[in-house]
Amino acid sequence: MANVKVAVRVRPLSKRENAEEGRIIVEVDNKVAKVRNIKVDNRLDGPWDSREKIVAFSFDYCYWSIDPEDPKYASQEVVFQDLGTSVLSGAFKGYNICLFAYGQTGSGKTYTMMGTPASVGLTPRICEGLFSRQDDYSEQPASCRVEVSFLEIYNERVRDLLKQSDHKKPYTLRVREHPETGPYVQGLSQHLVTDYKQVVGLLEEGIAKRITAATHIHDASSRSHAIFTIHYTQAILENNLPSEIASKINLVDLAGSERADPSYCKDRITEGANINKSLVTLGIVISTLDAVCCMFVF
Ligand SMILES: Nc1ncnc2c1ncn2[C@@H]1O[C@H](COP(=O)(O)OP(=O)(O)O)[C@@H](O)[C@H]1O
Ligand SMILES: [Mg+2]
Repeated sequence: MANVKVAVRVRPLSKRENAEEGRIIVEVDNKVAKVRNIKVDNRLDGPWDSREKIVAFSFDYCYWSIDPEDPKYASQEVVFQDLGTSVLSGAFKGYNICLFAYGQTGSGKTYTMMGTPASVGLTPRICEGLFSRQDDYSEQPASCRVEVSFLEIYNERVRDLLKQSDHKKPYTLRVREHPETGPYVQGLSQHLVTDYKQVVGLLEEGIAKRITAATHIHDASSRSHAIFTIHYTQAILENNLPSEIASKINLVDLAGSERADPSYCKDRITEGANINKSLVTLGIVISTLDAVCCMFVF
């Protein structure tokens, strides 16, 4: 199995895009997404070059989520069946897994990762799958423990989204490196959960605390990266001795990847610069990564 899987999802046009008579210029054909009408650079292709160009990109999965009536419509359930179940089977085998949504503001990252009450997204579905485990993995654990944490990174500062604090000001946590277990966030709260309902409660609490700020592109989109981490520990018997299989699942809803426009106000530019800096670093990490990883691109 490849270590990194990449999927793309095409969302329906928003109300604003419809009002502006926007057109969908992406076509999805099995694992290939074709983008039409790209503005080609005349200097490269000559002034005679037609602007009606089709550029094709291959992915591990391509999701067409425009019209629920369309037979090829990819619902939240379809996305979960591909990506969510592979996260779960990896976790059951003890792998560390990271699944993240990358894309421009308004492209549907939060919708895919979190969803809405009417259309539940990947994160709650994965949590539900941990509690209603039905797989053919031979060694079913005697018991398992699920602990979750939820943080956001906004302007290079790490904030706990689940800490009940009486401080009015949000406080910043430090990222440190443990010689054996690797990087961790010092003081990040861990919450033991025993059923799906508890996870949903914590997710809702964290989402409500996420910093959102108006941008030119989307009215209330988040300018922070949000990381929901699940520590999944299974108690097993190995050669008749009690043992543990531990895996960590990181579910990440990244901040918008768009380029900062110089006409934005200073705060938005600073946010954008920090977001871009972290996304570039993320790219370096992926290219050197050796762990099982799923990546989600929009
Ligand atoms: N696949 C989809 N189907 C229906 N609506 C979607 C889909 N993806 C995104 N949307 C809607 O588009 C808007 C922007 O999506 P959102 O997830 O907030 O974007 P992002 O997190 O990337 O900024 C939201 O109103 C969301 O409900
Ligand atoms: Mg979002």
